[in-house]
Amino acid sequence: MKRVVILISGGGSNMVRLVESMTGDHPARAVLVVSNDATAAGLDRAALLGVPTAAIDHRPHGRDRAAFEAELLKPILAAEPDILCLAGFMRVLTPAFVERFAGRMLNIHPSLLPKYPGLHTHARAIAAGDGEAGCTVHEVTPVLDDGPILGQARVPVLPDDTPETLAARVLTREHLLYPAVLRRFAEGNRSPLMI
Ligand code: GAR
Repeated sequence: MKRVVILISGGGSNMVRLVESMTGDHPARAVLVVSNDATAAGLDRAALLGVPTAAIDHRPHGRDRAAFEAELLKPILAAEPDILCLAGFMRVLTPAFVERFAGRMLNIHPSLLPKYPGLHTHARAIAAGDGEAGCTVHEVTPVLDDGPILGQARVPVLPDDTPETLAARVLTREHLLYPAVLRRFAEGNRSPLMI
């Protein structure tokens, strides 16, 4: 059984879908949910699902990412993960941290990468006049929102969309895509899933 640690920063709706998917004959189980924000609603949702949680506040470390990550690593390593899933985790990780989990860390990003790495993806897609948008699950490499693509899901951009309405439409697809990709990944299948 593969051990999965999920990193969040907020509501954790993707985390919930991942945890709920890992039952029965699924080859993985969620063993820990970690947030960089102790007030993240996702921590309560994880606890209700019976998954252990940890909160490591990044703020006392200021801009010292390495110091934050030294604390972040403690509960993660204690959980002995095979796979790390970033699910709305909004801190940029250092190359040293990423390389430690090379080939074992996934991220979901709310755009059709390589379009729109970084923030404000939906506003950028609308401003560009794109006819479609979506989300991407990819392996994490030291370059932000880069790395081999493991799956993508597409949605139309509608004429009256706002960043909020588009984000909500994309999120429904994130909830399908991430569990599907994680299952394939845990089974050793890294070929891209396009839905
Ligand atoms: C999701 O839309 C996810 O793709 C995005 O944050 C949201 C988290 O929602 N991630 C990023 O923007 C990463 N750069 P959730 O907490 O409800 O899963």
